[in-house]
Amino acid sequence: MAFRLVPALLFAGSAIAQSVGMWGQCGGINYNGSKICVSGAVCTYVNDWYSQCLPGTATSTTTRTSSSTTLTPSSSSSSIQATTTTQSSQTSTSPQPSGSCTPLSGNPTSSTIPKLPDPFQRASGSRVTTKAEWQCRREEISQLMQTNELGTKPPKPSSVTGSMSGNTLTINVSEAGKSISFSISISYPSSGTAPYPAIIAYGAMSIPTPAGVAVITFNNDDIAAQQNSGSRGSGKFYTLYGSNHSAGALIAWAWGVSRIIDAIETTTNVRINPAKIGVTGCSRNGKGAIVAGAFDTRVALTIPQESGSGGSACWRLSDAQKSSGQNVQTASQIITENVWFSKSFDPFVTSVTRLPFDHHLLAGMVAPRGLLVIENTSMEWLGNMSCFGCMKAGQTIYQALGVQSNMGFSQVGNHNHCSFPSSQQTELTAFVQRFLFDQSSANTAIFKTDGNLNFDQAGWMPWSVPTLS
Ligand SMILES: *[C@@H]1O[C@H](CO)[C@@H](O)[C@H](O)[C@H]1NC(C)=O
Ligand SMILES: *[C@@H]1O[C@H](CO)[C@@H](O)[C@H](O)[C@H]1NC(C)=O
Ligand SMILES: *[C@@H]1O[C@H](CO)[C@@H](O)[C@H](O)[C@H]1NC(C)=O
Ligand SMILES: *[C@@H]1O[C@H](CO)[C@@H](O)[C@H](O)[C@H]1NC(C)=O
Ligand SMILES: *[C@@H]1O[C@H](CO)[C@@H](O)[C@H](O)[C@H]1NC(C)=O
Repeated sequence: MAFRLVPALLFAGSAIAQSVGMWGQCGGINYNGSKICVSGAVCTYVNDWYSQCLPGTATSTTTRTSSSTTLTPSSSSSSIQATTTTQSSQTSTSPQPSGSCTPLSGNPTSSTIPKLPDPFQRASGSRVTTKAEWQCRREEISQLMQTNELGTKPPKPSSVTGSMSGNTLTINVSEAGKSISFSISISYPSSGTAPYPAIIAYGAMSIPTPAGVAVITFNNDDIAAQQNSGSRGSGKFYTLYGSNHSAGALIAWAWGVSRIIDAIETTTNVRINPAKIGVTGCSRNGKGAIVAGAFDTRVALTIPQESGSGGSACWRLSDAQKSSGQNVQTASQIITENVWFSKSFDPFVTSVTRLPFDHHLLAGMVAPRGLLVIENTSMEWLGNMSCFGCMKAGQTIYQALGVQSNMGFSQVGNHNHCSFPSSQQTELTAFVQRFLFDQSSANTAIFKTDGNLNFDQAGWMPWSVPTLS
């Protein structure tokens, strides 16, 4: 911190020497480093604790200091805008917004929301009444979650190429003069015909492999390490974007999944159908799976398994379980364990009611695509009531879109963590048939727990569910 007492203005004439790289931190409470970004980046207010160098051109002064300041990245290469642009231009079953959605102005986080935030209320205060408006609300949620919890998911890099060798697909990615290369292995099914549907498994497959489906093993730790709280900034994602990038591991892995799908779309001999991709993972990797499904509309089926806090649980509900004396993982604990979240989440963990979202909205971002949430009732740490209540709230978004049974929830206890009970096989098969094989008759109307859980639905969900036109 040799320069920490030097006023920022002095840097103006010699910005190159002290400038912060693309994606680096450039402001925030207790931040004493340089506020000048490299050429091509603008220091953009994220929240009171975090400003970041994002692609764009400065139009006025650099660091913004008020949460009422408009977040207006000046070019379409801005990550948040580009992310949403990519999502809305992808082929998917999602209803498309009738016009383009206006990015959220500022970062509203100051008011306290003690109960689960209303999925259908825009930041502007108006309520969502149409499916097209939901798409804009969804983009708003995406922006809020990236800004205040997950970190930024960069848009598709300038070059993504795939090459097959045996059953290994090597993916080379280049952006702004930096390159990485990572590989995935594909296990092809012994039945069915190419191009096959596929499930991307974080780490290793921990659910039974469905017949006719390829398994893509994704070494997510290679993209972003998750050894412990000291792993921040390690992994190939950070080789490309810099170790100071705001992304925590979950969104960095989601970026990796998007690059896998990019490569599947463009590599001729890969023999996988890019329109029939599932994503799964268990425990920490289950948290990763639901984030990947939420942030790429090309994922047809998302199957988080025992993801618990940080996945299918809601921060508010986990705090409530904890304060009633149960040993449930909370936001304030989870950030000390690992680097799954952005540093920008830290200011919220002791007051999660300041978050303008909770994880029911993460599930809602997957809608209307397939989502099967598998949980374990008897593992106290995961927060059994929190997962159940959170996903109950998340399902209201599917309900509002008229596709309630596109989301399933199955919570079964008395098995080992990440072992798959045979009692859930029928449910898994139904979701695979419906979303990877287009069997519209498969019965996916599943929402069950074997626990007698004390979820106060009226209390936690004090809002009505519209029928979106
Ligand atoms: C930045 O400076 C302030 C004021 O001198 C100090 O309180 C704070 O600890 C410093 N933060 C860091 C990260 O050095
Ligand atoms: C991918 O990157 C690796 C490592 O840099 C390199 O050896 C390989 O030739 C590249 N493959 C393609 C198809 O460009
Ligand atoms: C990361 O941020 C820290 C603190 O601002 C700074 O000292 C360091 O040089 C940055 N590293 C890179 C690679 O930009
Ligand atoms: C869930 O995981 C816990 C912890 O590993 C294990 O003891 C329990 O048997 C598993 N089954 C259920 C239902 O939790
Ligand atoms: C749910 O978790 C609580 C602890 O948080 C535990 O006391 C209770 O037995 C669990 N319910 C079931 C059905 O396992």
